[in-house]
Amino acid sequence: MSFRVNPRLLYKNIEDLVRFTQKRHRVKTKWAATRPKVSPSDLALHNFDASYGLQFGELWPSVRVSLLSEQKYGALFNNFSYDDTVTQLQSVGCRDFVTASVDITSDGAPRSFTGDTSSHHSKVSITPNVRCFVFPKGDTSRFKAARQDRHGLLGYYLMDAASLLPVLALDVQKGESVLDLCAAPGGKTLALLQAQATRFLWVNDWSESRMSRLQRTLLSFLPDDLCSEDKLRITCFDGRKWQELGPENTFDKVLVDVPCTTDRHSLMEENNNIFSRSRTKERQNLPLCQTQLLLSGLQAVRRGGEVMYATCTLSQLQNQCVVEQAMRLAEEELGICTEVVDLQPFTALFKDTFHFAPDMNLGVMVLPHLTANFGPMYFCKLRRLA
Ligand SMILES: C[S@@+](CC[C@H](N)C(=O)[O-])C[C@H]1O[C@@H](n2cnc3c(N)ncnc32)[C@H](O)[C@@H]1O
Repeated sequence: MSFRVNPRLLYKNIEDLVRFTQKRHRVKTKWAATRPKVSPSDLALHNFDASYGLQFGELWPSVRVSLLSEQKYGALFNNFSYDDTVTQLQSVGCRDFVTASVDITSDGAPRSFTGDTSSHHSKVSITPNVRCFVFPKGDTSRFKAARQDRHGLLGYYLMDAASLLPVLALDVQKGESVLDLCAAPGGKTLALLQAQATRFLWVNDWSESRMSRLQRTLLSFLPDDLCSEDKLRITCFDGRKWQELGPENTFDKVLVDVPCTTDRHSLMEENNNIFSRSRTKERQNLPLCQTQLLLSGLQAVRRGGEVMYATCTLSQLQNQCVVEQAMRLAEEELGICTEVVDLQPFTALFKDTFHFAPDMNLGVMVLPHLTANFGPMYFCKLRRLA
């Protein structure tokens, strides 16, 4: 087994470099002009070392090395492709982790799993229509690019397999209406549509360019009749303004997959990095923006409906703190009461494929690990009571 480890694993003295430079250049303009070029990805690493070191304690070095190593993908199987993609994927040693995790009954229906109830009643069923293939633990093989079938549809979509978990845990039932509030580039939208349960799906994202990408993705994977206007609506709203732009108290399920520090991207890519100086304000505003988006989701969902909050960051400030703040504000400012749904019975099904963070008091976290380098992926499910 071989891992590709980023050389920056060995780079430890950014802090010293920044401190030294600040002391030397005391005049502000000169300091700015001679400021050392700390790349956005180095700044991200420095920032993560400071905050995640405290947050994860002795777990951090292992998570850090995994974050800086090659990410593992999953192949979301396209039910609408005519090619025999399953045989192809199985022949290279992959297995479908969704079906493998679920005990399917003899009549082909998935069993339901009931968690420790009390006030946090939890019942999760896993759809048999979503299949995602991964290489076994410790196997770092890569997938080949997907091929088109004779109708031009691709056989699978490559994504972080952990991204599928919030969609599975949202547990959309036949005939339900769903809002995907921050949907682009569309991995989770595609998974929602593969489940073939939604009666109506509203797909929204603020970025027009990312929305164009989502539309191209849908065209490459879905037959035209699935994208008709009565089944699928696509908009480019600022999701924080849902109250002014979209219907409230309406959807059975809402997915709020917010913009975040995208920890892996921030460590590995300089382009479009949220740690670049030009995006400092945007980065600092993330928890506020995330809270507003989650509040929109709670307004859009009907009473008794459920909202899934998701991020791909390890940051407590962008995860648990946002959920706590949104629950409090929803109750105090909007009169919307919510409860957290217990996802432990759900995660128990997938513990052979993913590493889940221990002792999470709110929500679930998939931690990157060298033998199963998926995530980070945080998700927390809220049920609207009133
Ligand atoms: C983590 S990505 C979503 C990933 C997507 N759900 C998927 O699975 O492919 C977050 C998205 O939020 C969008 N976004 C940022 N601010 C927004 C806002 N105020 N309203 C709606 N979408 C927003 C970004 O354009 C970005 O596409």
